[in-house]
Amino acid sequence: MSETGAGGAAAPHAAAAGQSTSRQEGGAVRARSLDKSYRLGGEEVVVLRGADLDLAAGEAVAVIGPSGSGKSTLLHILGTLERPDAGSVEIDGVDLSSLEGERLSRFRSDRVGFVFQDHHLLPQYGVLQNVLMPTLAHPGAVGTRQRAEQLLGAVGLAHRLDHRPAQLSGGERQRAAIARALINRPSLLLCDEPTGNLDGATADVVGDLLFELHRREGGTMVVVTHSLDLAGRFPRTLRLDKGQLREAS
Ligand SMILES: Nc1ncnc2c1ncn2[C@@H]1O[C@H](COP(=O)(O)OP(=O)(O)OP(=O)(O)O)[C@@H](O)[C@H]1O
Ligand SMILES: [Mg+2]
Repeated sequence: MSETGAGGAAAPHAAAAGQSTSRQEGGAVRARSLDKSYRLGGEEVVVLRGADLDLAAGEAVAVIGPSGSGKSTLLHILGTLERPDAGSVEIDGVDLSSLEGERLSRFRSDRVGFVFQDHHLLPQYGVLQNVLMPTLAHPGAVGTRQRAEQLLGAVGLAHRLDHRPAQLSGGERQRAAIARALINRPSLLLCDEPTGNLDGATADVVGDLLFELHRREGGTMVVVTHSLDLAGRFPRTLRLDKGQLREAS
């Protein structure tokens, strides 16, 4: 792992997050014949057309593909944020179409961690409060603040707990977003271009962190990226093209 944090931050210590955690089990994904279109005005934009995906629990996979090919759409469907028009998704054997309302929200909050391209941190809250936000669905959970602080130490932000997003560098914001995505120990971590807005050195730091945290925390990790450097570091890369996923390596 790189020893240099972005913006002069202390070096991340991912080991800290592993000290009091067990590795996350699960995260198997089975998607079949996914179709998704958007209708805009009178026009239909076909995005997914019979896409299949199989991920073993614990896998780390990169997804590449041209802009507009549907990578974010695919992540949103896997993360239960959107529904496919047709086809099925199972996460650890649970058919997502069988979940609605409160049960769906609960499943998402328990099982899925999302790192958005533009971090989606809440501007009015400090880093620690942002990382704790997903735990509000679990009132009374023990040790969440300690875990949040451990994760923030792991991503090199122990000295930035009260900074608001606007007071952080781009790389620091992404690292905070990664800590937030991991706070509930998701079995499925979905990252949408986590290094897309970062300079090369900072992107390397964030990439290192993702691999280190995946190794320590377990679970399945899917990372959408335009960076062939980052994709090249994954044991498996899938390409989304013409609405379907194919092995790229
Ligand atoms: N809510 C929506 N309404 C209409 N069209 C949409 C909507 N969301 C996405 N699209 C269209 O679906 C296609 C796929 O979008 P998506 O964001 O999944 O692509 P992407 O592969 O993530 O692209 P990028 O690499 O630029 O992020 C695009 O052509 C986009 O314009
Ligand atoms: Mg996208």
